[in-house]
Amino acid sequence: MRSAVSTPIIIDCDPGHDDAIAILLALASPELELRAISTVAGNQTLDKTTRNALKVLELAGRTDIPVCAGADRPLRRELQTAPHVHGETGLDGAELPEPTTPTVDQDVADFLAERIEPGIVLVPVGPLTNVAHLLQRRPEARPDRIVWMGGSIAEGNVTPAAEFNAYVDPEAAARVVASGIDLTMIGLDITHKALFTQEHAEQLRGTGKIGTFVAELADFFLRFHRERYGMQGSPIHDAMAVAHVADPTLVTTLYTNVEIETASQWCDGRTVVDRWHATDRPANVHAGIDVDADRFLELLCSRLESL
Ligand code: RIB
Ligand code: CA
Repeated sequence: MRSAVSTPIIIDCDPGHDDAIAILLALASPELELRAISTVAGNQTLDKTTRNALKVLELAGRTDIPVCAGADRPLRRELQTAPHVHGETGLDGAELPEPTTPTVDQDVADFLAERIEPGIVLVPVGPLTNVAHLLQRRPEARPDRIVWMGGSIAEGNVTPAAEFNAYVDPEAAARVVASGIDLTMIGLDITHKALFTQEHAEQLRGTGKIGTFVAELADFFLRFHRERYGMQGSPIHDAMAVAHVADPTLVTTLYTNVEIETASQWCDGRTVVDRWHATDRPANVHAGIDVDADRFLELLCSRLESL
């Protein structure tokens, strides 16, 4: 059931374990109306991320939501995927039904432009290649607001200096931060504060096909984060961007300057966040600096249980 006034959103994603959970959270949140999904190459190749998005909607019984396959590579760089994180399929560890619906056969900039209307929030949770194409090809169709899972103030997960979504396509990220659009950045510094543990997975397992699917995803995702970072849980990065649109009290943001490094031997893809206003560069991003982790995880689990 939708809440009285639900916010329409479009998710641009590269499923990906946390992308899949973000889509399900959007479907389970009465404050939101998921209008469409566009897919981008990132965690896996475009064919796989697109197939995964269709499979998640098939599982959720929401094949009414249109899906458009976007960019199969970054604006200028070679694609770097993350099979070591998400597996060869991009959603390893979980069983999913075969998709029965096709994608919308359309240029992604046109697909997004036709669906952008006043009040809609674009929620990209992968590399920003599709958003850059939208700004370039359909400049008249600017979304009022973008809430992006990407970047970081101090963390790096693909290099010591950079977060994956920014690193895969820094030129695209640079275009988006320079666009002047109301942009929120949900970065690693806060997603790493809210870890989805085995206990959360057991809470969901057996609550139905969606809960079991999320638990299976978490089992796989947790193994990577335990082995790589010694974490006792997984950051469900992309779901935090969706949750922030549903409940803006969860994340604390700071309006400051963010620039993207695109020409560095060691720091390409770094989101240079002026956390302490050390420069006089103009503010352009609402950067996430803190999160109420317990309330975020409670919202995530209770919503997923309801599906
Ligand atoms: O760095 C984390 C981000 O990169 C998440 O969006 C994850 O899905 C990957 O795309
Ligand atoms: Ca993602």
